Amino acid sequence: MQKNILIIGACGQIGTELTFTLREKHGRDIVIASDIREGHDNLMDSGPFELLDATDYDALEEVVAYYEIDEVYLMAAMLSATAEKFPMRAWNLNMNSLFNVLNLAKEKKISKIFWPSSIAVFGPKTPKENTPQNTIMAPSTVYGISKQSGERWCEYYHNKFGVDVRSIRYPGLISWKTMPGGGTTDYAVEIYHKALAEKTYTCFLSEDTSLPMMFMDDAIRATLELMESDSGKIKVRSAYNVAAMSFTPSEVAQSIATQIPEFKMTYEPDSRQAIADSWPSSIDDSEARKDWGWKSVFNLEKTTQDMLKNLSK
Ligand SMILES: NC(=O)c1ccc[n+]([C@@H]2O[C@H](COP(=O)([O-])OP(=O)(O)OC[C@H]3O[C@@H](n4cnc5c(N)ncnc54)[C@H](O)[C@@H]3O)[C@@H](O)[C@H]2O)c1
Repeated sequence: MQKNILIIGACGQIGTELTFTLREKHGRDIVIASDIREGHDNLMDSGPFELLDATDYDALEEVVAYYEIDEVYLMAAMLSATAEKFPMRAWNLNMNSLFNVLNLAKEKKISKIFWPSSIAVFGPKTPKENTPQNTIMAPSTVYGISKQSGERWCEYYHNKFGVDVRSIRYPGLISWKTMPGGGTTDYAVEIYHKALAEKTYTCFLSEDTSLPMMFMDDAIRATLELMESDSGKIKVRSAYNVAAMSFTPSEVAQSIATQIPEFKMTYEPDSRQAIADSWPSSIDDSEARKDWGWKSVFNLEKTTQDMLKNLSK
């Protein structure tokens, strides 16, 4: 039997691409996109859409009943840089939207949930290189605190109520179809746009800040592979480490310069530097590889080629 899917926060950086991919796979009317605002025309024209506030339980329950939703992808959140400016709003959005979806599953109104965590769950005391799945976390940002709490609640709802919730600690995501939404790794998308338009970019992180990153195609594939795995294989019910590549701003600049030789980069670190400094440089994703066969495809060179090719069309 075909099961209907609801994407919450479908107009964002990840939600947009996830909606397109799931619609291609299952059919346009099986996948219901929703967000608190409308998205761009391509998304709005690609299938059913509902305006929905993820913090409103009654409205969410109504949409789930109306479309006979079975599976929910909760992509609505306030990201790291914005959350530092609006801590209480970030906490309310990031936690209440998660509780609403977890409680729908606890009440057996939906049967499966994807909720993304982040490398922001780690903090300044975490081992920076090859950060293990299980290690000291102690996040120091509003966003990281909400993601770590979210992980604990996902695991709790799984253990206590049998809720089938699955999660990935996404690194910084790089995509060309949509712009990022207020995170600390946004530079790694902006840089490609500016390199093509102006041949120059001023980076808000310092040149040697190494962070874990992933191309969007890998991130979407990781999400679907995790969701399609047999439940018994999913041993981690908080969130899995996944990795693809790690690089510094100066390394992206060099990789862009191989295709745009006149490209120039300057550096003006701002408040986002402190957030980046509290995060790992590289991630050990051996548990995801072992449990559900995760393997990345895109490295920096392939990412740069794909970004410049698609953005220059
Ligand atoms: N993009 C990244 O690099 C990255 C990295 C790690 C984790 N994540 C996580 O992945 C998820 C999606 O991230 P993204 O980059 O697509 O974010 P984004 O900011 O691009 O998109 C979030 C979407 O949620 C919507 N939204 C906000 N408040 C809402 C509400 N009350 N009800 C319904 N929708 C609402 C926004 O309108 C937006 O379209 C988030 O949980 C984020 O923390 C993202």
